[in-house]
Amino acid sequence: MMAFNLKGRNLLTLLDFTTEEISYLLQLAQEFKTTKRLGLPHDTLKGKNIALLFEKDSTRTRCAFETAAYDLGMHVTYLGPTGSQMGKKESIKDTARVLGRMYDGIEYRGFAQGIAEELGAYAGVPVWNGLTTEYHPTQILADFLTIQEKRGTLNGQTLAFLGDASNNVSNSLMIGSAKMGLHFRAVAPPEVWPDPALVEKCKSVARNTGATITLTEDVQAGTKDADVIYTDVWVSMGEPKELWEKRIAMLTAYRVTMDLMKNAGDDAIFMHCLPAFHNLETEIGKEVGEAFGLECMEVTEEVFESDYSVVFDQSENRMHTIKAVMYATLS
Ligand code: CP
Ligand code: NVA
Repeated sequence: MMAFNLKGRNLLTLLDFTTEEISYLLQLAQEFKTTKRLGLPHDTLKGKNIALLFEKDSTRTRCAFETAAYDLGMHVTYLGPTGSQMGKKESIKDTARVLGRMYDGIEYRGFAQGIAEELGAYAGVPVWNGLTTEYHPTQILADFLTIQEKRGTLNGQTLAFLGDASNNVSNSLMIGSAKMGLHFRAVAPPEVWPDPALVEKCKSVARNTGATITLTEDVQAGTKDADVIYTDVWVSMGEPKELWEKRIAMLTAYRVTMDLMKNAGDDAIFMHCLPAFHNLETEIGKEVGEAFGLECMEVTEEVFESDYSVVFDQSENRMHTIKAVMYATLS
């Protein structure tokens, strides 16, 4: 494997990484996955400490960072949405400089990308973006490892994203696709297409990799023969509850159903970053579902539980890929 020196680098968006660097991180993650499966120790970062800053809730990202850190021999401090001085009594810049004096790396999940950038500029240690309003880069590394495993390759694969194509996951999938030579289709109404400036940036990256970027509101054409069908929640964390009504009206036609999966390519896979509203077994799912007379939101229970679905492989791969990111930037 060709090694790259990523020591000291932040991971704020995949735009900052080359195709080769992303391939390297995916290869490293695959190796860590094998190492873990074989039960071999890999605590090569013993003696290091990392801080996890979460201004929004999380299951996967938090647990992936924690378990990956423990496997690498590191200690972890979790700072949740309440309980630290950050933002309330202490600026981001000051928080970054304090944490940078104590920790070897910092994960940030929260709001504006600018906050992650400010942490990254002042901490003096690697800062990893665990989801901002704009981007979710570590999710895409896990997704791409999963696509590689299930489809054998990334380059040339067609990925159709349905739903709110202006959200963090869709933005980062578009960037990742541009970098790694996938054909990205945003299948959504124009109101929730990605920001035109970001689309232009991705198209210019795509010119060098053979990737293509397509925006379409046509569900049939957008999903036709796709290798990967991907969706995410219609209202993201931090967005107002009042948006549900509008988004349901706008996006119900973009729900992932069995008919839609059959319109995709043979052996297509269904992906979702999770958490997903595929039934009414959650508080919000029940509340919104009952208010609007729906059994599910962005994906049907049938698709979610079908053989098309690789969502739990994606979840597992969060840990292996985050481990690769921490290892590469800390050693
Ligand atoms: N996919 C993802 O980031 O999940 P969490 O919100 O549980 O971290
Ligand atoms: N778009 C979702 C992703 C959750 C992992 C959100 O930001 O809530």
